[in-house]
Order: sequence, then C-alpha cells, then structure tokens
Amino acid sequence: MTTVNSDKLSSARFAEATDAFVEVFTASVDFDKRMAEQDIQGSIAHATMLCKIGILTEQERDAIIGGLTQIGQEIRAGNFVWSIKQEDVHMNIEARLTDMIGIAGKKLHTGRSRNDQVATDIRLYLRSEINSISDQLMRLQTAILDLAEKEADTIMPGFTHLQVAQPVTFGHHLMAWFEMLSRDYERLQDCKKRLNIMPLGAAALAGTSYPIDRQMTSDLLGFSRPSANSLDSVSDRDFAIEFTAAGSLIMMHLSRFSEELILWSSAQFNFIDIPDAFCTGSSIMPQKKNPDVPELVRGKSGRVTGHLMSLLMLMKSQPLAYNKDNQEDKEPLFDTVDTLINCLRAFADMVPHIIAKRQNMYHSAKRGFATATDLADYLVRKGMAFRDAHEVVGQAVRLGLDSNRDLSELSLAELQQFSAAITADVFDVLTLEGSVAARKHIGGTAPETVKRAIQAARQGMPTGQ
Ligand code: ARG
Repeated sequence: MTTVNSDKLSSARFAEATDAFVEVFTASVDFDKRMAEQDIQGSIAHATMLCKIGILTEQERDAIIGGLTQIGQEIRAGNFVWSIKQEDVHMNIEARLTDMIGIAGKKLHTGRSRNDQVATDIRLYLRSEINSISDQLMRLQTAILDLAEKEADTIMPGFTHLQVAQPVTFGHHLMAWFEMLSRDYERLQDCKKRLNIMPLGAAALAGTSYPIDRQMTSDLLGFSRPSANSLDSVSDRDFAIEFTAAGSLIMMHLSRFSEELILWSSAQFNFIDIPDAFCTGSSIMPQKKNPDVPELVRGKSGRVTGHLMSLLMLMKSQPLAYNKDNQEDKEPLFDTVDTLINCLRAFADMVPHIIAKRQNMYHSAKRGFATATDLADYLVRKGMAFRDAHEVVGQAVRLGLDSNRDLSELSLAELQQFSAAITADVFDVLTLEGSVAARKHIGGTAPETVKRAIQAARQGMPTGQ
C-alpha cells in the first residue's frame, strides 16, 4: 500500500495527509529539543538493555550508540536539522539515526513508546536542572552568610506592620533570608528523590511483551528504581508540579528579599546601597538610580506561580493514561527552570556588593522608640505586672514624642515620674546595644548568637562550607 504522506508517523494508518496547520499546531520540537541530551542518554540505555536481552545484536547496539553519539555532537555543534514534520525531539532523533545507520535505527523503538520515553526524558532533564538550581541557591546562601558575618553587630530597626518595632541586627535579618533558602534547598532535594524513578518499560501504557530488564535500564540511567505501575508511569506529572511549587516558594522568597532591598535603597529608608552594576538610570530623570534587578526578580515571581497553576490545571481531570495534553507540561517547566536559575544567579552576584549604611540604620532604630519593650520588660523584672508596665512605657513614649527625644535621651528624673521602680540601671536596657545583646537565646538577635548561627549554618550547609 502506498502512503499519502510518507513523512507522517504511522502513516500507513492514514488515508489523508495531516492538515498543514495541524502539523505545526501539534508539533513540540521547537521547545522539546531542549531535552535532546536526555533523549539520547535514555536511548543509549534502552539499546544497551535490548542487546542484553537478545533483541539487538551487539553490532546493532554499537551502530545505534555510535549514531546517537554522533547526533549528540551534531546537536551541540548546531548542525542538526530539526524538522517540524518529525513532530518532536524523539522522532527527529530517531529519524536521523535511521538515515545514518539504516535498519538498526528502526529497531531502537522496540519495547518502548514515546509515552514512556518522554516521561523519562523530563525526569532526567529536571534531575540535572535541579542540581544547577541548587548550585545557584547555595551560592546565594554563601553570599548571605558572608554579608551576615560582616554585619553581625550592625543595629537596625526590626519591623512589624512596616513600623519600627524592636532593634535587631542586620546580620540577624539576613539570616532570616538564609533560613528561607535552606528550606527551599531541602524542598528541591526532596522533589528530586521522588522524580528519580524510571518510567521506561511502561511503553505506551500497559508495558511490553518483550522480556525487558527494567532494573538494568534504571541502573544505567542512575534512577533509584523502575516505576511500579505502567499506567501511572506514563501519565504522572506530579514531580513537575512539585518542582514548580518548590520553585514558586523560592520566587516568593526572592520577591520578599527584593521588596526589602527596594525599600531600603530608597531615599526614604536609605539603609543600603545597591552597586551601580545592578541598577539603571532613568531616561528622563537624571537623579534616578533604579534597583532594576530586585524589581525584575519581584516581577518574575508572578510567572512561576502562574506556571504552577498551569500545571495543576493541565493535570486536573485527565483520565489514565497518557494524553496529548501532557505535551503542554514542557514550556511552563522550562520557563520555571530558566527563571529560577537567572534570578538566583542575579541575587548571588549582587548580594556580596550590598553596602549597609550602618549609621542610617542605627539612627532609624533610635527614632522609632525601638527599646520600648525593653523598658516594659525591665519594669516586669522589678516586680510590675506586664500590662501596668505597658501603660507606664506608653507615658514615657508620649513624653519622648512631645519633646522629640528617644527613651534613652530622657533623664532619670523624667522617667521616675512614671514609676518609682525605675533606677539608674534602666539606661543599660534603653540603649539599642543593650536591647539586642539581651536577646541571646537560640534564634535571638544578639550579635554573639548571630555569629554562632552563622557558624552552625556554614557547617550544616550541604557543600560543607
Ligand atoms: N511530544 C509528546 C509529548 O511531549 C511525546 C509523546 C507523544 N506520544 C503520543 N502518543 N502522541 O508528550
């Protein structure tokens, strides 16, 4: 029987050629060619296994591996001709292999389907990208630790409701960011554990009648084990959703850092300087220096959360097993990977160059009555009930506001008119230094505690830094 469209996949089945627009509409090669390396890696393992079980001769296996290796070189050199007629990365590579080595190339697809092939490729791809993302994340963590060490004694206002609350050290504030990233790192590693399971052998959906050795293929590809159910293997994209959820949290954290850096670098806060290399000017206002990198990162957090929603909706209500819908998983995933790597990299490059304007931070903490709680705690230690102490301190703050002075600038006699319990030692707790030094329990803001936290973090880091 002659076929109408000799390029068409399974063409004997079809009496008509694919509509030209449908061909373009259904093709994925433009984006899934990004997984070419993984596709080749998976095919080499599959061919090796097929030879071991006697489906391919050693000559055929060697021809396949040689051909695939050469195709890999062509792709890396940019000489490979991708064709939309071959629909996706899998068919493009297989077609080229058959062009190169003939009949052996046509045997490669024995005992597998593109459904288990693509599920394997994405897992291999994400596994390696999670490593690259983790590397950038650890670079950022190291930069934060270094800056926190430099600024362990720097006093700044701590905020609640963006109102000055209590003094903290800048090192302590930075270590809060570090903690967020540590959880992010763990989530990525956890996600990697669950995605590192091998779908190959599930074939289209029901497995295959060939005596395949899935354990062998799994070992060759560095998976922890072959998947347990063929229907689930070809249709599961939980790992993509988990990854994008972990990525959304990373971006949410980066957007919070961004927001603080943007506020702090404004003339109103004036707490930090972001180096010129990470900012741009305005085309019209000559005085402007805009914090572009944090702003862009803050903006990009939205798209990753969008990708998470896309993937959840993509999978919702899909019947078992593979559906073409699943081809739509690639673009959100790839963009999530790119956004994470770029944003983490930009931050890791920028953070070491952030300059703390220590005097401004200090004066801002002083202006905001940040030690009011310390005065209340002092009165409690002298035997007053906390609610009464709260009231006394409110009166002292009122006097400070009216006379434009910090609590530490009021005289002893002035303070004593609100409570006889106040004595000269009150000034030890009213200073910013006294306030932060007192918070020396685990997780506190005292410079000594922060330095210990930094040391512990350096030892606990997965890189052993
Ligand atoms: N390009 C497809 C995808 O990304 C590969 C699997 C296609 N399988 C199929 N039976 N149409 O999901």
